[in-house]
Amino acid sequence: MMAFMSDPRSRAAAFCDRFGIRVPILLAPMAGACPPSSSIAAMRAGGFGACAALLMQPKEIEDWAAEVRANVDGSFQINLWIPDPPPVPEDAGDIALPNFDEQCQALLRIAPAAVSSIMGLYPPPFVGELKSRRIPWFATATTVADAKKAEAAGADVIIAQGMEAGGHRGAFDAIKAEQQLVGLFALVPAIVDAVRIPVVAAGGIADGRGVAAALMLGASAAIMGTAFLRCPETKVHPAWADALANTTPERAILSRAFTGKPGRSIATDYARAALGADAPAPAPYPVQRGLTTPMRLEAQKTGDVQRMQAWAGQSAALARAESASIITKRVWSEAQALLPKTVVDRH
Ligand SMILES: Cc1cc2nc3c(=O)[nH]c(=O)nc-3n(C[C@H](O)[C@H](O)[C@H](O)COP(=O)(O)O)c2cc1C
Repeated sequence: MMAFMSDPRSRAAAFCDRFGIRVPILLAPMAGACPPSSSIAAMRAGGFGACAALLMQPKEIEDWAAEVRANVDGSFQINLWIPDPPPVPEDAGDIALPNFDEQCQALLRIAPAAVSSIMGLYPPPFVGELKSRRIPWFATATTVADAKKAEAAGADVIIAQGMEAGGHRGAFDAIKAEQQLVGLFALVPAIVDAVRIPVVAAGGIADGRGVAAALMLGASAAIMGTAFLRCPETKVHPAWADALANTTPERAILSRAFTGKPGRSIATDYARAALGADAPAPAPYPVQRGLTTPMRLEAQKTGDVQRMQAWAGQSAALARAESASIITKRVWSEAQALLPKTVVDRH
């Protein structure tokens, strides 16, 4: 039977059983916006927690996992960006990224319910290490071609990231990212038909309508990022959290203005100016990140959202200032009310 023909509730239930959750909603990995507290709250409600470890040293990643495990039973993923080849020189831009191989070793020691990737594929030796420890690999893909590559490389789940998503695009080839902006309604069924592994939908999902739609399109679960940014447990700057409430879909815009890689943010004064016809072209990643660091740090101090790195997906205005536990429970109960009832075929 084609995957899309299977009943969405049964498909979601099978995903939950396999990955140790009660609700098919995953907190998105969000670098700089994933303290243990938001995962603890989402996991208490039966959802899947997340740590986006890009900027974290190995010890910090281990401390994150220990804190979450000390507070709640359940499942979480740890996420890394796949570095661009050739490796980023240590002195590029203003920031020195933690060592990727050492981060990978920390992930193996922690053995989370899933290790996830974005912007490429883990090197085969690391995939072998994951397999030998039975740690599932969730690979982000923004195109059908990338999803197929990830499946062939050993991924256990595809995270289908639609162009609606807040934060950075997960394109394997960042140079082509702007030419390959696929919306989630086209992306999920296309990837579901192209691979044999479960698909998790990400991008613009922020309430029960979005979760039910994702499951109807063939996904096994939904990821929400921006929807959790206003939670008290997520602890983002209040100016950013408040601005999300007034961000219409067309005011969540894609630019390379903050880091040199394309990402979706609130259309702040800075992001709009950087997209202007007379604006200088952004430097490559991570040099642009280094160049914007002083402005972003100053904005954090002064509370000036117009100069903050205020990531936002296109459904930002649906984000509510509620606990991540309440959001997880509410969104799943809204989705269940919309999903067709399971019909037990007795023949
Ligand atoms: C603040 C922020 C930071 C993010 N950082 C990461 C990251 O480090 N790794 C990753 O795989 N995805 C990252 N993402 C993308 C999310 O994992 C997810 O794909 C996205 O939030 C889904 O779209 P939504 O925001 O509309 O729910 C980030 C998103 C946001 C909003």
